[in-house]
Amino acid sequence: MAQLTWLVTGCSSGLGEAFVMGILARGDKVIATTRGDVARISALKEAGARTYSLDVTASQDEISAIVLDILNDGPIDVLVNNAGYIEAGLAEEASYENYLSQFETNFFGVIKATRAVLPHFREKKAGIVVFLGSSGGIAGEPGAGPYCATKHALEGWNDCLRQETAHLNIKSIIFELGFFRTKMMHPDNIKFRTNPITEYDYVRELVGQFVQKMNGNQPGDPKKAVNIMIDVVKGEGVAEGKAMPTRLPLGPDVLSTMRKTCVNNLAICNEWEDVIRSTDLDK
Ligand SMILES: NC(=O)c1ccc[n+]([C@@H]2O[C@H](COP(=O)([O-])OP(=O)(O)OC[C@H]3O[C@@H](n4cnc5c(N)ncnc54)[C@H](OP(=O)(O)O)[C@@H]3O)[C@@H](O)[C@H]2O)c1
Repeated sequence: MAQLTWLVTGCSSGLGEAFVMGILARGDKVIATTRGDVARISALKEAGARTYSLDVTASQDEISAIVLDILNDGPIDVLVNNAGYIEAGLAEEASYENYLSQFETNFFGVIKATRAVLPHFREKKAGIVVFLGSSGGIAGEPGAGPYCATKHALEGWNDCLRQETAHLNIKSIIFELGFFRTKMMHPDNIKFRTNPITEYDYVRELVGQFVQKMNGNQPGDPKKAVNIMIDVVKGEGVAEGKAMPTRLPLGPDVLSTMRKTCVNNLAICNEWEDVIRSTDLDK
């Protein structure tokens, strides 16, 4: 495939950083972004990336202006909506503000960045939008209500966007990752702001123990995930000869989550089919 130019959000660590290094290793061009001072990603600049400051919680006008600035130096072929964090919390205990804050980054941040790039993709009748989904966007997990809600929201938005832009040769895909070893679950990054309700003490305690145990012990290798995602976007390597799927789970843990969800949904359709079909107005 021809050389592509990628724009990646949230490159200060984890999958974003791995994306930039993986993209450069393929001989493609990359614009790496971080919130705050670009000096935070000077190592990526030294490796060959162009670097920009971009906080996905900025206003649509500010994000669109940054993208226009980037476009002055040349076209973008792929947007990777990577920036995100986990707002943990039990469904009832998490406050409205906790939910808002999570949606500002993981959902509205993604929408704003994508809406900033779409006019360019429409104009050149080409472009690929990548979303970082999660097993939490396929099925819910206790203690992750705000996070899972944003990842479910991305699933729906991707499905709409893909169908609306197909005739413009704009593609999109959501990768649904299991647990990958990044700093995401480190106590400095994961937010577990909660308004404790006694009846949930036991569940909250279990969630806290799970997060602590998982931090630093996630089975997934970010570099392997990134290499597969780059293959899929470029139609190379493991994706050679395959059409780009609408969604792709990555990691044995998320494969089992997706299978279980499919089987459960099918079982509901089969067991309740007569009832489900019975709701149309009488002819
Ligand atoms: N690791 C996993 O197991 C896993 C599983 C499923 C999905 N994902 C998704 O993968 C993506 C990357 O996560 P990661 O695992 O690589 O975690 P990470 O190492 O914590 O990286 C998250 C990145 O997002 C950035 N970010 C957060 N808020 C931002 C904002 N408002 N504007 C711009 N950048 C922002 C962070 O920057 P700062 O340094 O400034 O905080 C950091 O660079 C996320 O969308 C996450 O939901 C990860």
